[in-house]
Amino acid sequence: MLSYQHAYHAGNLADLHKHALLAWMLDYLTAKPKPLSYLETHAGRGLYDLAGAEAQKTGEARAGITRALVQGWLDADHPLCRALHQIRARNGATAYPGSPLIAGHFLRPGDTAHLAELHPAEHEALTRVAGFAHIHRQDGFAMAQALCPPVPRRGLLLIDPSYEVKADYDQIPGQIGKLARKWNVGVIVLWFPVLNDARHAPMIAALRRDHPQALLSQVAFAPARPGHGMTGSGMFVLNPPYGLQDEAARIAAIYEAL
Ligand SMILES: C[S@@+](CC[C@H](N)C(=O)[O-])C[C@H]1O[C@@H](n2cnc3c(N)ncnc32)[C@H](O)[C@@H]1O
Repeated sequence: MLSYQHAYHAGNLADLHKHALLAWMLDYLTAKPKPLSYLETHAGRGLYDLAGAEAQKTGEARAGITRALVQGWLDADHPLCRALHQIRARNGATAYPGSPLIAGHFLRPGDTAHLAELHPAEHEALTRVAGFAHIHRQDGFAMAQALCPPVPRRGLLLIDPSYEVKADYDQIPGQIGKLARKWNVGVIVLWFPVLNDARHAPMIAALRRDHPQALLSQVAFAPARPGHGMTGSGMFVLNPPYGLQDEAARIAAIYEAL
């Protein structure tokens, strides 16, 4: 039943928004010596090849991370650029890290990582590149509900579903509400697509009503292909780390200038 494959979209304009803010938060959180938990409900395969057939077919990475690097959208010392640089040094010049390997770049030996991925091939690929983490072939929300509050309690949870079914949108406010009650200090991060049919809007309205202090970062861009429904990328962050608001504004300015 799982048909979404992130390899077609890795490094696109939505990934750039998501991964720039994720890397910035992990850099900030690992600056202090206290140990950290990193959890991810929908991990993907962890490492992508932008020269591969999937990325070449859509060209989304060319309009995203590749263009960003050529045109210098991010400073060379931005946490995402630092992670990408190190991962390319190990895996080749066309490698692109998914969120698990971006996290792996920042996590330290005393930190703990739990990643869920349900798709058999994506799960298998993830086990080959994310040896630093506990990898669960399980529904990501079930994993998060079972592990929260994690040990150590200081940490970040990324929720990045493929939104293949309407149930994803419907269940998220309830899932996040339950997680936030169990783990009131956790940095809980949701990525969502901004869609021209506004399918995401009721979910975001419910989240904003329930979590008025959370940070909402939204950027807009031209659809990847004519008729493509995604016209932007969103991040909803509970307990945003100090300074994230400014970083989100810096990233938003990049998209506004496109
Ligand atoms: C958008 S991709 C993840 C991308 C990744 N977070 C990144 O930024 O590199 C979503 C992934 O969720 C997986 N998936 C779909 N439903 C799932 C579920 N219920 N539990 C765990 N993983 C699931 C898909 O197979 C897919 O690999």
